[in-house]
Amino acid sequence: MTPSRLLPILLLSASALHAQTPPSGSASGPTPMPASAPPSAATPVGQAATPAKLGIGPTEAYDISRLPDDAYGRLARYGKELTDRTFAHIGPEVRNPKMRFAGNNLACASCHEASGTKKFAIPWVGAHATFPQYRGREDTVSTLEDRVNGCMERSMAGKPLPLDSLEMKAFVTYMHFLSRDIPVGSKVEGQGLPPFTPPNRRADTTAGSQVYQAKCVACHGPNGAGVRAGAPGSATGYAIPPLWGKDAFNHGAGMNRMLTAAAFIKANMPLGTTYAQPQLTDEEAYDVAAFVLSHERPLKAHTERDFPARWNKPVDAAFPPYVDGASADQHRFGPYPPLQERMKQLKDTLMKGTAVK
Ligand code: HEC
Ligand code: HEC
Repeated sequence: MTPSRLLPILLLSASALHAQTPPSGSASGPTPMPASAPPSAATPVGQAATPAKLGIGPTEAYDISRLPDDAYGRLARYGKELTDRTFAHIGPEVRNPKMRFAGNNLACASCHEASGTKKFAIPWVGAHATFPQYRGREDTVSTLEDRVNGCMERSMAGKPLPLDSLEMKAFVTYMHFLSRDIPVGSKVEGQGLPPFTPPNRRADTTAGSQVYQAKCVACHGPNGAGVRAGAPGSATGYAIPPLWGKDAFNHGAGMNRMLTAAAFIKANMPLGTTYAQPQLTDEEAYDVAAFVLSHERPLKAHTERDFPARWNKPVDAAFPPYVDGASADQHRFGPYPPLQERMKQLKDTLMKGTAVK
């Protein structure tokens, strides 16, 4: 696709996005966080707190230019820059070989849209308040830094950032900035991805291909390779990110799981879509996710070490070992409800360690 054909699409979807965003403060919209008063201030000491409904504010609420030009402000701003232009600082094409941590030319914001502030596009608003947390993939308590490195090794198909690096500190500082006023331990409406109920059938990649041709190919291209922003090798990333192939997220990434990809796609794609006004049905999102994930992508080493406590391995984690006796194909493409049912039954046995291998 040529840039001149791309532009109208982008403009169109930008205006669609604009039209779909409910005015802040509307009844259906998110409850924007007050920028100044922390919610806890409203609770008199000694009284049980009514759980406040915390929401994600409009993008303007996270305007980082309002921060002073001090050490914290500079680091938070570098974190946002790293989020939007990951490829330019820690991507595989940067000049200094020692800075090549990401293995692909995506940006964190390719998935964590609007610099990590879009509702139901796995936003980071409040993320700082939910870590450390138990994570099944590692079967241990992970810090926010561990979680950043989870995406570095999988979504970005690369290497972990050193914990004491400027880049790691910048990411965490930016997430701290996005999470200001969110009390530790609270849940924020719009965090993660919306729940997705899969149709009780195997996904149909042929139907998915038709959805792709109708609603995705104009941007992501016939080979899922996206559109580069500049010449390959220039560390300038993508105008439209790739969905599969050698520069995409690897097979151990969260986005390589059917239920995660379908939920993300339904709530956020085609570009400009919001959770409140999806443009695909559940069936279409499910099938197009299968079509996208049916293609080759970089392989993550040692995925058999993921989810060492096998009872909490998600049914759509499509790599061995499989503990439920179902086929690899069923884990990859469904139907999932029978697998979810079977995992419920197996949970107690597996937790006691009388492991099915
Ligand atoms: C290909 C898509 C993709 C890219 C690119 C990506 N991530 Fe993620 N990220 C995900 C998904 C999917 C999840 C949620 C997985 C789950 O828990 O189901 C996630 C979760 C996270 C979380 C936890 C959020 C929370 O609320 O618990 C953090 C932090 C994070 N990513 C950081 C990063 C950083 C930093 C980068 C860039 C260096 C990055 N991600 C790039 C897909 C991506
Ligand atoms: C108007 C152009 C456009 C269309 C149409 C579009 N996308 Fe995207 N897509 C993007 C852009 C741009 C991003 C990066 C996120 C951002 O900039 O907000 C993205 C990100 C993604 C991602 C996460 C990042 C990655 O590289 O994996 C997935 C998955 C995805 N799109 C799937 C789809 C699917 C499936 C469809 C069709 C239903 C679709 N997109 C339609 C432009 C588009």
